Amino acid sequence: MSGLYVTGTAVVIGSASGMGRATALAFARYGAVGLALGDLNEPGVQETAKQAKEVATNPKFSVTASHVDVRSWTSVENFFQGAVAEFKRIDYSVTTAGLLKIYAINGFIAVNDLEAYDNIQNTNARGVLYHTKAALQVMLKQDAIVIQGTYRSRTLGRGAIVNVCSDAGLVALPGEVEYNASKFAAVGITKTAANEYGESQIRINAICPGPIDTPLLERAIALNPALRDSATDSTALKRIGDVDEIADAILFLVSPAGSYVHGTSMVVDGGFLNMA
Ligand SMILES: NC(=O)c1ccc[n+]([C@@H]2O[C@H](COP(=O)([O-])OP(=O)(O)OC[C@H]3O[C@@H](n4cnc5c(N)ncnc54)[C@H](O)[C@@H]3O)[C@@H](O)[C@H]2O)c1
Repeated sequence: MSGLYVTGTAVVIGSASGMGRATALAFARYGAVGLALGDLNEPGVQETAKQAKEVATNPKFSVTASHVDVRSWTSVENFFQGAVAEFKRIDYSVTTAGLLKIYAINGFIAVNDLEAYDNIQNTNARGVLYHTKAALQVMLKQDAIVIQGTYRSRTLGRGAIVNVCSDAGLVALPGEVEYNASKFAAVGITKTAANEYGESQIRINAICPGPIDTPLLERAIALNPALRDSATDSTALKRIGDVDEIADAILFLVSPAGSYVHGTSMVVDGGFLNMA
């Protein structure tokens, strides 16, 4: 039997749109029993919950959708408390919540709006810190799950955490200092947590997407129309990726198929980094 399946309960933050919505729907399709969805955009996340019910394959499937702001520890902690009250256990926890605003398109010294700069750090970096910390608090109290493999049993651990970061957390892109700073921090937070909590049998990984067709990328292209062609051209596959291609990578990481993958920044970018 393939290890690419899920049976437990997932948290997906950022699931009102783009990769987060696709990830929520993938959890429902691949067999998750429960989904706790969160986002700043409450109507958007309610819509994702509705779509998840339509595609869910687990007969016991249920889903909750609520407001959460990853910039606030109180909000994130309350969100996780709500998810635990509903589902008792969280096996997989993913955040895709993020912001891209190209304030520094004219170069580094044009960064004047420090409030906007801080908002990006608070969303993309502090959000990953809070998500990881809240998920760890829950998972540390859970028992590890063990499954039978071909030759011996293997542990799936107490839970799996995925933070969606970016190629911009691995290489510096001109004109994106605020985004680069936030995504390098997000990768660093994820890797530190992986080192600290591996022994506790909680797997923690980052996904680093290249250009993916989402409302976020569309907004960036609206500001800078040349970006569509340059983003396409910057990949070796010569195409912008689809949200399902990120959702599938996330499902691999949290599923039994990924049970020995830990502390990595998995690049899913059509060969963008290989061309950089
Ligand atoms: N689309 C791309 O080309 C691309 C490439 C690399 C990395 N990324 C990263 O992937 C992630 C997902 O991006 P996407 O393209 O799906 O974007 P998106 O804009 O479609 O979705 C992002 C979601 O995050 C939510 N969000 C924003 N701030 C939040 C907050 N403070 N609290 C809770 N939710 C919040 C938004 O409401 C939205 O639903 C982001 O972290 C982004 O930086 C995107």
